[in-house]
Amino acid sequence: MDSQTLMMLSEKYVAHTYTRYPVVLTRGKGTRVWDPEGEEYLDFVAGLAVCNLGHCHPNVVRAIREQAEKLIHVSNFYYIEPQIQLASLLCKHSFADKVFFCNSGAEANEGAFKLARKYAKEKVEKDRYEIITMERSFHGRTLATLTATGQEKFHKGYEPLMPGFKYVAFDDMGAVRDAVGPKTCAVMVEPIQGEGGVNCPSKGYLRALREICDEKKLLLIFDEVQVGMGRTGKLFAYEHDGVEPDLLTLAKSLAGGVPIGALLIKKGVAESFKSGDHASTFGGNPLASAAGEAALRAILEEGMLENCQKMGDYFFSKLEAVKNKFPFVQEIRGKGLILGMELKKDGSSVVQEMLKKKILINCTMGNVLRFLPPLIVTKEEIDRVVAALEEVFSNWGV
Ligand SMILES: Cc1ncc(COP(=O)(O)O)c(C=O)c1O
Repeated sequence: MDSQTLMMLSEKYVAHTYTRYPVVLTRGKGTRVWDPEGEEYLDFVAGLAVCNLGHCHPNVVRAIREQAEKLIHVSNFYYIEPQIQLASLLCKHSFADKVFFCNSGAEANEGAFKLARKYAKEKVEKDRYEIITMERSFHGRTLATLTATGQEKFHKGYEPLMPGFKYVAFDDMGAVRDAVGPKTCAVMVEPIQGEGGVNCPSKGYLRALREICDEKKLLLIFDEVQVGMGRTGKLFAYEHDGVEPDLLTLAKSLAGGVPIGALLIKKGVAESFKSGDHASTFGGNPLASAAGEAALRAILEEGMLENCQKMGDYFFSKLEAVKNKFPFVQEIRGKGLILGMELKKDGSSVVQEMLKKKILINCTMGNVLRFLPPLIVTKEEIDRVVAALEEVFSNWGV
């Protein structure tokens, strides 16, 4: 079917929860995607940090194909090898001792809230359930995770919100100290805020959070749904600071584009989830887990972390140079290949203009252009994006 027909049918039959660009995508390879008419786009959105390996990585495609021929799904009543392999690989390469699998970032965060409450009641004090989260955070769209999200615009219309969440300013240790009370059981933070505008905390912030959590017997939860799996140049963003959480949530790129979520758990906490306490029908099913193992191995074995660091530094310096040319660029932020360019005005028209140049980028918070290319991106592709951006800015005025 052609693009026009498909867009018309989508308007008619698909719920209008997304503001979509007028593009239909049917095929992808590496950093490129194509529409039904064969037009090629350079993808610096990468499924919003899902396609870290690029589109249709051959090892992921092979793993899915081979697994689909053997076994697509069975109940979690039974053991399945791909799930065991993925869990052991995640534990080997992280702080974690156990993994709970689910299907999305929101679901992984729900698991973290449940486990934090259960652990606190069992191991600390009966009446502890409150979780401190950050302003401008994003943790998902279920009722609990949108409540945890420290942005009012996501709450509107869904009240009453879940009880038991408290917000403090991001990167403000004093605010965290003031907020901790007798009912607090955990502190949850994104090591770099993605949807909130690519906000990086000051050096020492995560360590200070770790210290207060230890002092007050709270669990520290890192939401690495967006910044995990190599996005910042390390497998997990927490590695940059050498600060380990008690719980960490993953989703997005964990299975190379196949829906999956995971809650990584430290020993001593994992035991609070006992048989029957939590579950998910599709969680870690054979297909998703096989894709996950192939994706994780590719990140670790194909130099993607090194490329991410190198290309991230290069891209950052190029964006800094753009900032120095155009006074309406406020700041460049980020690490590895999650980079944000804050503008002094609304950035949505820039996304539209880049689309005309066959380049996909994103804008978050209204004025922060967000760049999330696959970790295999090249210098030439970055140069193309930067040149296109300069052209758009030159025609944009001051
Ligand atoms: C940091 C973070 N946490 C959680 C989520 C929610 O993930 P999902 O859409 O898979 O539920 C997102 C999605 O953008 C995210 O960026």
